[in-house]
Amino acid sequence: MAKVRPGRVVVDYEDDLVVFTVGMRINKFWKFGKWWPVFTSMPRMLRELQADPDLGLLDSRTMIGGRVIMVVQYWRSEEHLERYAHSQVHAHRGFWKWFNRNVKSNGEVGLWHELYKVRAGEYDTSYINMPPYGLARATKERDATRTDPDDHEADAVH
Ligand code: HEM
Repeated sequence: MAKVRPGRVVVDYEDDLVVFTVGMRINKFWKFGKWWPVFTSMPRMLRELQADPDLGLLDSRTMIGGRVIMVVQYWRSEEHLERYAHSQVHAHRGFWKWFNRNVKSNGEVGLWHELYKVRAGEYDTSYINMPPYGLARATKERDATRTDPDDHEADAVH
């Protein structure tokens, strides 16, 4: 299990980035032949991406809740993500085709992709007593002091 780091840290990264969430929903459990290939394709792609950092994936986290499996991913840029998605030599293109051919629009397996482009300086983070996590794990972190609601800039103007 990842080791907890006591105290507060914040992300120490000053570049644009992309947050991408991708996931599936098992709508009909008995349609095993439809959702199993989608379910197993995900770790395969993640292994491929982790093996070659130049593809642009900074880090990812997989979460399961009920019927939904969701992967939160941090990418260097939208260009990296698009290049990977369309690449002739990587796995995604094949899975995309497989999905289009095999999973019909009849509600059997849900699939989603969400892409958020985030500009440098337009994100704010805080991790207290956490193991390396989220964007901090994906990039760099630095030590920070604890905050206090009575000691806030906004209080000065109101
Ligand atoms: C590492 C995980 C994944 C990444 C990074 C990823 C990335 C992307 C991106 C960037 C697109 C948009 C491409 C474009 O329109 O130019 C896309 C579309 C698509 N992907 Fe993925 N994907 C992932 C997982 C999956 C999985 C698990 C499947 C199914 C087995 C899948 C099937 C599809 C399909 C069907 C589309 C077209 C969606 C639409 O028509 O709106 N992807 N993917």
